[in-house]
Amino acid sequence: MCGIIGYIGKESATPLLIEGLRKQSYRGYDSSGIVVIGADAQCVRSVGKLENLEQKVTDLRLIGHLGIGHSRWATHGGVTEENAHPHADCKGDIFVVHNGIIENYRVLREKLEAKGHRFLSQTDTEVLPHLVEHFFKGNLEEAVRKALKFVKGSFGIAVVAKEDPEKIVGARVSSPLVISVNGTGGFIASDPSALISHSNKMVFLDDGEIAVVRQGDFKVFDLENNLKEKEVMELDWTLEEAQKGGYSHFMLKEIMEQPLTLENAIRGRVFLKEGKTKLGGLEEFASRLREIKRINIVACGTSYHAGLAAEYMLEEYAGIPTDVDIASEFRYRKSTIDKETLFVFISQSGETADTLSCLKEVKEKGGLTLGIINVVGSSIAREVQAGIYNHAGPEIGVASTKALTSQLAVLSLLTMFLGRQRGMSLVMGQRIGKEIAELPKLAQKILEKSSTIEDLAKKYKDFKNFLFIGRKYNYPVALEGALKLKEISYIHAEGYGAGEMKHGPIALIDENFPTVALCPSDSVYEKMVSNIQEIKARNGKVIAVATEGNENIKKLADDVIFIPKTLEMLTPILATIPLQLFAYYMGVLKGYDVDKPRNLAKSVTVE
Ligand code: AGP
Repeated sequence: MCGIIGYIGKESATPLLIEGLRKQSYRGYDSSGIVVIGADAQCVRSVGKLENLEQKVTDLRLIGHLGIGHSRWATHGGVTEENAHPHADCKGDIFVVHNGIIENYRVLREKLEAKGHRFLSQTDTEVLPHLVEHFFKGNLEEAVRKALKFVKGSFGIAVVAKEDPEKIVGARVSSPLVISVNGTGGFIASDPSALISHSNKMVFLDDGEIAVVRQGDFKVFDLENNLKEKEVMELDWTLEEAQKGGYSHFMLKEIMEQPLTLENAIRGRVFLKEGKTKLGGLEEFASRLREIKRINIVACGTSYHAGLAAEYMLEEYAGIPTDVDIASEFRYRKSTIDKETLFVFISQSGETADTLSCLKEVKEKGGLTLGIINVVGSSIAREVQAGIYNHAGPEIGVASTKALTSQLAVLSLLTMFLGRQRGMSLVMGQRIGKEIAELPKLAQKILEKSSTIEDLAKKYKDFKNFLFIGRKYNYPVALEGALKLKEISYIHAEGYGAGEMKHGPIALIDENFPTVALCPSDSVYEKMVSNIQEIKARNGKVIAVATEGNENIKKLADDVIFIPKTLEMLTPILATIPLQLFAYYMGVLKGYDVDKPRNLAKSVTVE
């Protein structure tokens, strides 16, 4: 959602702050601002695109070597300049940028106003600089620490003060903050992408930690002012990974790099001879995992769709009953949290508030938690007990593409791991391992035919509605294909279990309502053929996603996208790719910003 950047060092702060906000712009924002402290404190804010702020900053020539900046995705208070961050105290000496939500801000604001503080915005954030001002006696981190004892909610903040200008103070509870110190100076940000061009060595703050970042060093304390030892993480992300790499959009780059990201998800984890998988983050829990009798997967959006596919894998190949919940609905269930249940949290960003709050609830009740996460050091990654990183690299496009196929690959490895602890034979383990190892090559074959998908998008670009249908492993793919088309091209699309057609959706079908039918040559192929025939009988157009070599399907469907043969449980990984491309090309044909679709944010850090 929002982006935080801070710098203190030898260089001029302004360009470094703007660059840091630009690197985080993919997170979605509606306004931005920076403050630079030199001889004076100069604060500039603007609504709309970052370019608007840049223009203002250029006109004003901000001078100083200390500053913080913020890109805001509105939660409390409208999209206005007054509500944009940084927010200041009464004297304009103390400035705060904030990610998250201050739950008790109304009470705090009333108390501060009663003490004479004047507020200028409608935001929850603005209570912070006034609270810090109330406690400030010259030492900024001490004032911040005292102020935060009164704050309830989630926050990642960066604070600077004219009267204590040799430092940036950062603090986090539930909203990520990362710091890095190199020859240029000290940096703080809400996202590693903002810092990776300066250094790949970073320190991630944990909840309840306060960082004091200076030009040449940093210290981390807890809220009781105890010094904390922190591990310096080395991220294997180069800046190039976060750049477009020659493609016209991050989304296309990330679709095209799936053979590599699948490779990375599998690398060093499949041992064909033993028919086993080795997952470092599970080893210490191996004996506990052997005892689990049930799995409950919790996730949102595309990650939820990955969980739905895993439900079939885990039940069919590991023999473990599995439930899958949308995180924002899970909290309303009286879910059984006991020693025999494994809770799996799937999240690309590792910051999705709905998923994170379910995780904390499950942990509080003693549940065993496992995360399948892409962003190293993210909140969910550091909250779960066991974890498996996707290693898919930064996913900049708001629509999740490479993260999904990477999640599915990791879930198939998890299935192997749990299955081989139970009844799965050596031969089956070897077979699954071999097919998983083939996936990067098979994905590449699909991507090499991307121009045929582009042609299909051109052929269908004027349709206003689409239906996506699938069964068993490809029912989640139907949901995902519909989501991708919706969120990238703003075309109405519904995903359905194909068996549901006769219970309602078939009423929609006519020559203006095409259907994408997932029908690889698998255990439910014949039923899918019947569904396609029902649709054709009502003049509905059908785009079939079928297995290479299936000649018959050409007689049934109007158009066919072929995918290579693989194990049924792995078809979602391959069947999803053409649907990602279809949505991408549709969005491009309509002239939309496919990397930052309207109303969407990459990391939904508010509930
Ligand atoms: C995916 O295309 C969407 N942008 C969105 O549904 C996303 O999958 C969801 O917000 C979950 O995000 P996470 O995986 O980072 O938790």
